[in-house]
Amino acid sequence: MMSIVLIGFMGAGKTTVAQTLAKTYSLDFADTDLQLGRQFAQPAGDLLRRVGEDQFREYEYQVMQQMLADATPIIATGGGIIESPASRVLLQQEKKVIWLNVDYQTCWSRIAGDQTRPLATKLSSSELQERFKVRQKYYRQVADLEISATKKSPQQLAQEIWRLT
Ligand code: S3P
Repeated sequence: MMSIVLIGFMGAGKTTVAQTLAKTYSLDFADTDLQLGRQFAQPAGDLLRRVGEDQFREYEYQVMQQMLADATPIIATGGGIIESPASRVLLQQEKKVIWLNVDYQTCWSRIAGDQTRPLATKLSSSELQERFKVRQKYYRQVADLEISATKKSPQQLAQEIWRLT
């Protein structure tokens, strides 16, 4: 089975939906941030702060590559993974890349002030919105399926993804 890979901005619900999918359909799931946290024995946000964004993207790429090689059924990614050209190439080779598209205001309301997300505290809302705009183009570029996810519950989203993949 090809992996279902969830992409989308911070606060789109990737991790929650991946957990719901895994639980509902009894499948294994992996999360790039959680895996990085285990590998480097520090939360992904702290790792990002320590090594900087470029290095973090490289580690993120390696972790996703391994998860895909392991055929992990459900994979939740970090919101910035598509900023890495190498990760985009990898994702474009996949067939079940699902973009949880949630509007900016909703993402912001979920992540504002979250200390575990360095970008959400370091950047102002308007700077972050710029990032959001740039990233929309990349999510669209690598996604096989775009799901409007703003007003849907994790259960609804899990069912919709399951039905469509
Ligand atoms: C990031 C998103 C985070 C995490 C890191 C960087 C980003 O993951 O990987 O803080 O650049 O958008 P979530 O999308 O799970 O918040």
